[in-house]
Amino acid sequence: MNPANSSVPHHIAIVMDGNGRWARKRFLPRLAGHRQGVESLRRCVRACAARGVRVLTVFAFSSENWSRPADEVSGLMELMAKALAREVPELSRDGVCVHFVGEKAGLSDGVRQGLAQAEAATVGNTRLTLNVCFNYGGRWDIAQAAAALAARGEPITEANLQAATALAHVPDPDLVIRTGGEMRISNFLLWQTAYSEFFFSDRLWPDFDEAALDEAIASYAARERRFGLTSEQVQGQEPREALRA
Ligand code: IPE
Ligand code: IPE
Ligand code: MG
Repeated sequence: MNPANSSVPHHIAIVMDGNGRWARKRFLPRLAGHRQGVESLRRCVRACAARGVRVLTVFAFSSENWSRPADEVSGLMELMAKALAREVPELSRDGVCVHFVGEKAGLSDGVRQGLAQAEAATVGNTRLTLNVCFNYGGRWDIAQAAAALAARGEPITEANLQAATALAHVPDPDLVIRTGGEMRISNFLLWQTAYSEFFFSDRLWPDFDEAALDEAIASYAARERRFGLTSEQVQGQEPREALRA
């Protein structure tokens, strides 16, 4: 079977949105929503591994999120560093290999070290690759890839750019999920989503459970990915010129 059309996506990418609203509904500070978001991520990682998903890429902090109130930004940084340190043993046990994806400049030493330690501690694991996009923007990724090619004097081709992007170690996402009800990309994987399928959920990220994940995967499984071809070509039934005359 063509892996691009198999029923379980090889690579799922998620815009984990809605933590703030989840907290506001409960009259809690926004950070309580982010904390609950980490729990939801832990559940999601396990569920993806159990379903045979091989790559999970999550948007945890965007280049634009720096403009949020200072206490929310610092709270998110601390949460990230702590969650990584805490989760490493369980991630390792579950065969998860963690990759940090994003711009390291601008992050504190503590966060950078936490990210590096999580990567080093999980480097040999092969069941699920977890890409954590942190201080990440799709435009940043394309620009840094172009800058890397320019610095090496390499021609700007699609293949060279692809190889220089921050997600060059994995195939493009098959399925992109955005929770929280918004239907926009918000500077997530601009280069890599050229032929991804999209699923938008009204669930707030902390409420995105296994059943919601299964709903997204079922929606994906019911689609025909054509990659610019005709439906007949995809199904292996080339239209015959003779019959069309
Ligand atoms: C997503 O939740 C997490 C981050 C952007 C860090 P939000 O914090 O954007 O939650 P809402 O959209 O305000 O509900
Ligand atoms: C996207 O969510 C970024 C992350 C989930 C990390 P935002 O909440 O920042 O997106 P907008 O501002 O609603 O577009
Ligand atoms: Mg949001």
